[in-house]
Amino acid sequence: MKPPTPPTMKPTHRQSCSSPIIIFFFLLSLLLNLSYRAGAQDEPTYLSHSCSNATVFSPNSTYQRNLNALLSNLSSNSADYNSGFTSGTAGQAPPDRVYGLFLCRGDQSQASCRDCVGYATGDVLRRCPKEKVSSIWYDQCMLTYSNQSILSTMRDSPFLVLYNTANISDPTRFNSLLDETLSTILSRTASSQLAGKKFAVQRANFTVLQPLYTLAQCTPDLTTTDCTMCLQMGAGRLVRRAQGSRYFNPSCTIRFETYVFYNETAVALLSPPPPAPVPLPPPSSVPRPKGRKISTAVIIAIVAPIGVTVMVFIILCCLIRRRAAKRHEVAQDASDGNDMTNVESLQFDFAAIQAATDNFSANNKLGEGGFGEVFKGVLRTGQLVAVKRLSRSSGQGAEEFKNEVVVVAKLQHRNLVQLLGFCLEGEEKILIYEYVHNKSLDNLLFDSEKRGLLDWSRRYKIISGIARGMLYLHEESRLRIIHRDLKTSNVLLDTDMNPKIADFGMARIFGVDQTQGTTNKVVGTYGYMSPEYAMHGQFSVKSDVYSFGVLVLEILSGEKNSSFYQSGTAEDLPSHAWKHWRDGTPMEVLDPILRDSCSRNEVIRCIHMSLLCLQEDPADRPTMATIALTLNSYSVTLPVPQQPAFFFRSRMGQLYSESGKSGFGKSTSESMPVSVNEVSITEVEPR
Ligand SMILES: *[C@@H]1O[C@H](CO)[C@@H](O)[C@H](O)[C@H]1NC(C)=O
Ligand SMILES: *[C@@H]1O[C@H](CO)[C@@H](O)[C@H](O)[C@H]1NC(C)=O
Ligand SMILES: *[C@@H]1O[C@H](CO)[C@@H](O)[C@H](O)[C@H]1NC(C)=O
Ligand SMILES: *[C@@H]1O[C@H](CO)[C@@H](O)[C@H](O)[C@H]1NC(C)=O
Ligand SMILES: *[C@@H]1O[C@H](CO)[C@@H](O)[C@H](O)[C@H]1NC(C)=O
Ligand SMILES: *[C@@H]1O[C@H](CO)[C@@H](O)[C@H](O)[C@H]1NC(C)=O
Ligand SMILES: *[C@@H]1O[C@H](CO)[C@@H](O)[C@H](O)[C@H]1NC(C)=O
Repeated sequence: MKPPTPPTMKPTHRQSCSSPIIIFFFLLSLLLNLSYRAGAQDEPTYLSHSCSNATVFSPNSTYQRNLNALLSNLSSNSADYNSGFTSGTAGQAPPDRVYGLFLCRGDQSQASCRDCVGYATGDVLRRCPKEKVSSIWYDQCMLTYSNQSILSTMRDSPFLVLYNTANISDPTRFNSLLDETLSTILSRTASSQLAGKKFAVQRANFTVLQPLYTLAQCTPDLTTTDCTMCLQMGAGRLVRRAQGSRYFNPSCTIRFETYVFYNETAVALLSPPPPAPVPLPPPSSVPRPKGRKISTAVIIAIVAPIGVTVMVFIILCCLIRRRAAKRHEVAQDASDGNDMTNVESLQFDFAAIQAATDNFSANNKLGEGGFGEVFKGVLRTGQLVAVKRLSRSSGQGAEEFKNEVVVVAKLQHRNLVQLLGFCLEGEEKILIYEYVHNKSLDNLLFDSEKRGLLDWSRRYKIISGIARGMLYLHEESRLRIIHRDLKTSNVLLDTDMNPKIADFGMARIFGVDQTQGTTNKVVGTYGYMSPEYAMHGQFSVKSDVYSFGVLVLEILSGEKNSSFYQSGTAEDLPSHAWKHWRDGTPMEVLDPILRDSCSRNEVIRCIHMSLLCLQEDPADRPTMATIALTLNSYSVTLPVPQQPAFFFRSRMGQLYSESGKSGFGKSTSESMPVSVNEVSITEVEPR
């Protein structure tokens, strides 16, 4: 990892972060003075704020009223100062709706959290009197709001990096200790459940006299994946040569220092005591009065609560099971008396599915995928679903099918279409999915009128979302799922244009033989297949990465990869992109309607990354983790791409791949321009 570039002033076109680029230099005396006063007056220590005047509200507007209501709610008694986090919204309709949250540092007491939030809600309006989107950071807490939904969303901009100007004495050794410590604390934080907080501190010994203290925290509404990614980005931006540095954004914070900057007592109290209190001590260990038998009263006192607890537990289990059954309109199969609760709760009644889809009427047909027809349906509960009727040729047995459905239904991520259940009736196999409103990406992207809806920031959001969904499938779910058929028609868009990947896990559910699956699918998604998959049927996570590269180029250019073959130029989209890259005209790859509204840095980074995804040797392609990180952080330095693998399809329909490693043209760029988009504060710690 590379320390952040010195903050040179350079305007960026990036829309998602309109925070001004400011460099503050705090004088030592000023800072000492400030923190001294802060301590004395119980005022939180102000660090920075960010609010762009690009989106403002007018005085006495509905937005302002909603904002005031939200802020007063966030600082009210109902706010959860104990967990140090509360989020909320105010207002009904989107243009005037305000979303906000606060997060107190994990070691802060309830009282200190309340004080900080109370102060922040007033202070932020003084500093950002008319801006719709603001964030403000203090040592003790952080407050942020926006006119867009920010809840359960990882936001990495605006961000703030602070560092101590005193340099470390042995940077090499220090940094290796730091890396080790940060990686420990990252995973501890993301998975921590300390009193509802995603928070951890970690101490390490640099020298006897110089310990290293680190702290990391995410807003607890983030998933483990998002929290990890947020902290990874933060860790990448910390200033490594300094004796201390910290990173803040609206979703997470990470910090290291060579002195204790958090309240160790408070943190120790948060952690669960190591020997967990045993709820029901075995009778032999019950403390008994010396040498005397346990009295009947004691026995009753012990046995009665146990009995009651067991009964309550049994009743609760029954209730929960019943409820789940009701929700899913379960067909109770009396003969299937085993303990497959999971399967049962996922199984839908065929009659219910027939009713929901109006007996699979043509009017309800949404489309036809590789594995069968898809229908829209409305369950009796009113829930909209997408019903996929699998074509009947699968040779998989019912038990195997059920087991695979259970496995795939457990995959849950914001960027995946959720599998809700299945239905088996004779030869009929049906999958029931959540319904996603805006159809698939190809419907918008390749439609000359609708593509205008996809402006640059939406397209970038879609690319990042797909990357996160794929990262989850590849690395963060309990199984490693290789999609094998990633393409624009398998990316659905919800009402907020968030991407959701469809059709993952199909190979498992369908019981497709792996080599057969390859030959069957060459026709349908030819342009997305990596050379090794297309030609030798070898697939791995890296074949998904290849498909992702093609997908990104399609999103950028608004052109179908397959239409390039039809144009008779024997050039596919990857070759087209490569030529422009090599010739130093990467912006030519971009959809012309985006040229004025895009962020040049982001576009170039996307092209660079997709060329790396398209490398012929799978080992040269980045992993999904690197891709996701690259899309979210400007501090990742990408290697220079070689010419991608590309194909010609001969008259015989055979596939040839041509290696680009022969030195065809030289890449001119050594590393990509790094967007300088940092609010940096140089700070001298009072130590
Ligand atoms: C926003 O602030 C900048 C710099 O302070 C100023 O140049 C610009 O005119 C402002 N824009 C609006 C819409 O107020
Ligand atoms: C906003 O409302 C207050 C009181 O209702 C009024 O005094 C003030 O003039 C109004 N401001 C604007 C800009 O309308
Ligand atoms: C504020 O909180 C109260 C009680 O929790 C709730 O009834 C009210 O709807 C909230 N108002 C807003 C604007 O969120
Ligand atoms: C937030 O406000 C900006 C500027 O007024 C607007 O362009 C954007 O569409 C708004 N977002 C939502 C979700 O309303
Ligand atoms: C710390 O190191 C940087 C770069 O190596 C240098 O510019 C700076 O002056 C050093 N600061 C101190 C206090 O020595
Ligand atoms: C660091 O040093 C302290 C005292 O010197 C010791 O108690 C502690 O166990 C050490 N911690 C680690 C992680 O080595
Ligand atoms: C540290 O936390 C403990 C326990 O919450 C509290 O009693 C103590 O006052 C705190 N110390 C400081 C300096 O805030």
